[in-house]
Amino acid sequence: MCGIIGYIGKQPATPIIMDGLKRMEYRGYDSAGLAVIVNDQRIECRKKMGKLANLQAELAKYDLPGSVGIGHTRWATHGEPNDINAHPHHDCQEEIYLNHNGIIENYYEIKAALEQQGHTFYSATDTEVLAHLIEQHHKTLNFEEAFLAALNEVIGTYGVVAISNKEPEKILAARLGSPMILGIVGDGEYIVASDVAAIMQHTRQVIYLEDREVCVLTPQGYTIKDLQAKKIDHAVNEVDWDVSQAQKQGYPHFMLKEIMEQPRVVLDCLRGRVKIEEGLAHLRGLHEYSERLQQCNRMIIVGMGTALHAAMVGEYMIEEYAELPVEIESAAEFRYRKPILDDRTVVVAVSQSGETADTIAAVREAKLKGALVLGIVNVVGSTMAREVHAGAYTHAGPEIGVASTKAFTAQLTVLALITLFLGRQRDLSLVMGQRIAKELLEMPHKMQQILDQADTIAGLAKQYGAYHDFFFIGRKYNFPMALEGALKLKEISYIHAEGYGAGDMKHGPIALIDDQFPTVAIAPQDSVYQKTVSNIQEIKARQGKVIAIVTTGDTILPKVADTVIAIPKTLEMLTPILAAVPLQLLAYHIADQLKRDIDQPRNLAKSVTVE
Ligand code: F6R
Repeated sequence: MCGIIGYIGKQPATPIIMDGLKRMEYRGYDSAGLAVIVNDQRIECRKKMGKLANLQAELAKYDLPGSVGIGHTRWATHGEPNDINAHPHHDCQEEIYLNHNGIIENYYEIKAALEQQGHTFYSATDTEVLAHLIEQHHKTLNFEEAFLAALNEVIGTYGVVAISNKEPEKILAARLGSPMILGIVGDGEYIVASDVAAIMQHTRQVIYLEDREVCVLTPQGYTIKDLQAKKIDHAVNEVDWDVSQAQKQGYPHFMLKEIMEQPRVVLDCLRGRVKIEEGLAHLRGLHEYSERLQQCNRMIIVGMGTALHAAMVGEYMIEEYAELPVEIESAAEFRYRKPILDDRTVVVAVSQSGETADTIAAVREAKLKGALVLGIVNVVGSTMAREVHAGAYTHAGPEIGVASTKAFTAQLTVLALITLFLGRQRDLSLVMGQRIAKELLEMPHKMQQILDQADTIAGLAKQYGAYHDFFFIGRKYNFPMALEGALKLKEISYIHAEGYGAGDMKHGPIALIDDQFPTVAIAPQDSVYQKTVSNIQEIKARQGKVIAIVTTGDTILPKVADTVIAIPKTLEMLTPILAAVPLQLLAYHIADQLKRDIDQPRNLAKSVTVE
């Protein structure tokens, strides 16, 4: 959601900023802009609604020489997406320009006060208020002091970068609840950005700013301060992601590339963590809290969207094999409903980005109330990864497609490892532990067998791409998969799709079934297979078309369903890891056939940093 970049150095700023914005495109946006301090110390700003290509076309008309500048991709919150509301925003004198991610919650009050002091506003955004507030303070204070004074007044969240033509060799950046990373390129050359993707082709040396920290960049060096201007020392971190991981590598879309690389992702996620002989999972982050985990009597797993679906599968796994009571909850609800927690509760936050505002809020609430908080996070160094007590990274590498795929199967894998870890601390037998461990290591190979059928699934998409509505059904471990299959299809193809427990169909939804409303049934040969077959029969009896995801060798469902997709046999608790693959491929190929913008679907953002 929104991307921010700032560059200061000796090179022309515009191409570096545009390249950074391009690499953050995947986050989802509706307009883009940049501002550069040109050589005669004027600030030139260009901004355009729509894709970056529109901004690029605008830039082709002008030369913007200058080596200090800021850029932004905006995902609208306050004010519709248009050229005026796009960032950067400026003050009355057009001397200060800034980009902002997040929301200024007290912007009405600040705006009213500034209007009384004579400021005039041109946009519908909350961000513009910040530019005028800095301008107001800049009348008596220098740029940096004015920036700090303004940030001390605002309530809300921000990742912000600002420049002023009164101090043209300076970039100021700050964060509160919205990520900001400083990349140290060389002597006097820095990139500050909201996403490491915009930095990693220039340097691997980064500093992750903490909340309420400000970073001052000049050709003489960088300084990090708190909001009271007190200097802070910060460790420099090394980014371990590879630039090539964030490229399409010949695939037409990032989503397809990310689906295809899942066997390797799951292997990376398992590497060094499975001990077959002992039937154990070795999760370094959790060992420190081993005793407390053994004593906990309740777990709550929170997340949003796809991460919440992974959490639901985790609930089934942990209750069955670790015999620990588990609840799952949308992080957006958790925070506001006064959850009852104590020091024997473990709260697990699941998140690809580690920056989802709702999930971060849940983490903070749980910590405040004394729970042990664990994270299952993909992005190393993200806010959530740094705020939880302990956790396990998913090691899926950068996920660029907005629809989560490889991060999801990696989350399921980590949840299976946590199940093994907790189960063996409790009552899980060595033999069962060994079976889970062994079968986990089979996952990459079995996922590959499904990926080898990708062409067949692409063919299916041709048959089903013209329908306007879909049901996805499944039971037990595959109920969350029905929700996930429906989410994948709707978010990238814009086809109406609903996920239900197969047993829920008779209680209302089946009224919609006719020959124009197909159902995708996830029906592997597990403990609820017979029940799911009956539910499929009920749909068939009402002329509903059925695509069934079945276990290889099933002889019953190929006779009942219209089409089957086979997945290899595995332990019931691990079937979701395999079932995810055909669901992703089906959604992908239907969306591709409909020529949708698969990697950046309309209205969606990769990382949802506002509540
Ligand atoms: C769907 C999708 C979203 C995210 C959700 C949480 O494909 O990607 O539903 O799963 O926004 O995001 P993270 O995992 O970054 O917290």
